[in-house]
Amino acid sequence: MMKYRKFGNTGYDVSEVSLGTWQLGGKWGLPFSEKDAMDTLAEAYDRGVNFFDTADGYQGGASEHAVGQFLKTHPDVHYTTKIGRKEEPLSLDHFSPQSVDRYVDESLKNLDVDCLDTVLLHCPPTQLLYQPETFFELDKLKQAGKIRHYGVSVEKVEEAIKAMDYNISAIEIIFNMFRLRPANLFFDLAKQHNVGVLARVPLASGLLSGKYTAETKFAPGDHRTNNRNGQHFDKGETFSGVDFLTGVKAADELKQRLGTDNLAAVALRYILMYDAVSAVIPGASNPTQIERNTSAADLAPLTSEQMAVVRDVYDKYIKNPVEYLW
Ligand SMILES: NC(=O)c1ccc[n+]([C@@H]2O[C@H](COP(=O)([O-])OP(=O)(O)OC[C@H]3O[C@@H](n4cnc5c(N)ncnc54)[C@H](OP(=O)(O)O)[C@@H]3O)[C@@H](O)[C@H]2O)c1
Repeated sequence: MMKYRKFGNTGYDVSEVSLGTWQLGGKWGLPFSEKDAMDTLAEAYDRGVNFFDTADGYQGGASEHAVGQFLKTHPDVHYTTKIGRKEEPLSLDHFSPQSVDRYVDESLKNLDVDCLDTVLLHCPPTQLLYQPETFFELDKLKQAGKIRHYGVSVEKVEEAIKAMDYNISAIEIIFNMFRLRPANLFFDLAKQHNVGVLARVPLASGLLSGKYTAETKFAPGDHRTNNRNGQHFDKGETFSGVDFLTGVKAADELKQRLGTDNLAAVALRYILMYDAVSAVIPGASNPTQIERNTSAADLAPLTSEQMAVVRDVYDKYIKNPVEYLW
């Protein structure tokens, strides 16, 4: 049975296993299918998921639009949408007060709603966090009734900490068995500030399902083919910044030592061991993945021995190449 957690100071209770919609309606690089998108959202909803994470740029706006359509018949669903990255290249200008006003208006139209639920700045450059005007503008948009809550999706732990200076409700950050640093430095602070934490890329782009081998190939338009060295956006978004073959080895060892044939669910349950986390937002490329991921809510907590295995595998394979970068 799905369980629900407080989403920071928003007043919402969100499903602890929720859904990321970056690849909604197909896989990266494949044409968008409206039917697949709606079926995916419905499959998640039927399994107790009441929260979707989207962005104005996902699938050229089609992901955000599909979430908006779904809301019409499921008004109890909450969502985050992210703004500031649909126009390339990444630029501080895309997070100026004027740009934020424009993107919010465009998302209101695309989702076909009067007020956006929770808006996140979509991994802005670090300097943006030292430009309070944008956050003051978000406060004004709240007062004007165009957005209910706001927050930031960040690349680095230090950005999450700095964002606490503002009136935010949520931080979206990479946290998983291959990315442990947020728990050491940030989670207590998030709890003190009553800020919701969304754990994104919880399966390290699928590595933590344990299904890939050294021979696995991804489609040409998939970021797991073309962003391995950060050619298009931050390298940490692809396989959580872990070199693919190292990640395959580490995931195999986790599977064996944790004694599971559903590593994805255990990897999600691991994240949920941290009560600062409001929800994990795994992406899914088919309904079976949603079934397997939502089953994490039924798993018993990891034992202290299992927690130690995760730490041990992290220290052995991941810590040195990853810990110091994000
Ligand atoms: N900058 C940002 O703010 C940002 C960046 C990245 C992601 N996000 C958000 O975070 C969400 C999740 O990130 P993500 O989708 O990149 O990474 P993820 O959730 O770590 O991995 C998703 C991939 O894992 C595989 N998978 C999922 N469940 C599985 C299961 N039960 N068994 C086997 N394989 C499974 C699928 O890959 P296959 O295709 O191989 O089946 C799926 O595409 C996104 O949808 C988005 O909402 C935000």
